[in-house]
Amino acid sequence: MVSTATQIATFTFDNCLMNAAGVYCMTKEELLAIDASLAGSFVTKTGTLEARSGNPEPRYKATKLGSINSMGLPNHGFAYYLDFVTELQQKPNSKQHFLSLVGLSPEDTHTILKTVQQSDYQGLVELNLSCPNVPGKPQIAYDFEATDLILKEIFQYYTKPLGIKLPPYFDMVHFDQAAAIFNQYPLSFVNCVNSIGNGLVLDDEQVVIKPKNGFGGIGGAYIKPTALANVHAFYQRLKPSIAIIGTGGVASGRDAFEHILCGASMVQIGTALQQEGPEIFQRITTELKAIMSEKGYETLADFRGKLHYLSCG
Ligand code: DHB
Repeated sequence: MVSTATQIATFTFDNCLMNAAGVYCMTKEELLAIDASLAGSFVTKTGTLEARSGNPEPRYKATKLGSINSMGLPNHGFAYYLDFVTELQQKPNSKQHFLSLVGLSPEDTHTILKTVQQSDYQGLVELNLSCPNVPGKPQIAYDFEATDLILKEIFQYYTKPLGIKLPPYFDMVHFDQAAAIFNQYPLSFVNCVNSIGNGLVLDDEQVVIKPKNGFGGIGGAYIKPTALANVHAFYQRLKPSIAIIGTGGVASGRDAFEHILCGASMVQIGTALQQEGPEIFQRITTELKAIMSEKGYETLADFRGKLHYLSCG
């Protein structure tokens, strides 16, 4: 029997596949559709202190190889998502979920997390340190000092399970520096990667999305090699108590298999879910299980992180 069950901290999931934040997760109805699918979990749209309508449209465009977006954090406010995951958690046999959160300032982030700390919610939080699309707000995780400080402050009061969503890094020294910071904190997971920030897609002589003169986060097939590199770099550097969630360019069972081989314990699907809808979880689970049976793997632990290198000399 081949199983794609997995674990993050003390939380268990029947399937390692789920949505990526931003896709199919804005409303309770969308989240319920993911919950009812073969996905092992869902993550909510990143909730901010107050509800936001986001950037002007068009703000998402699918392309042949993926997508570009500059949504600008449209969301119903963190309380909408907190109430919903808390309500689901009280149902017998409920799946475990991820509540994605971030403030537009460190003060907002602390206000949000203090509310979650005091709430009845006992599940996982994914703190989004990597939104590239709010004009004037840099991606927090590209500023190592700011990242270290916010984590230091958070873990002075926050005692529930928390992980972070990261932007892609592109330099070995940055992997070392970022991992050295994350290893100082009781993080449950890191999620690699958010979109590659601030790309440009053209159609004839024109950009394809309205905000920021067309600049937006790139997802889909374009980003898989970057995503796999980030998953593996952090798998090699982080203490074993910090699980890795792999996100970026997953549109097939083979893509999910590669993320797990690089070290992912859970695999999120963004652009391809946007294209295909929640039935994608059935297809990719079937494809992943077929690869596992062909190779004689029964569980993810049989191959997670066991990437083969070419030997030197
Ligand atoms: C948005 C995009 C992101 O990549 C992210 O991490 C958070 C929000 C957005 O534009 O809504």
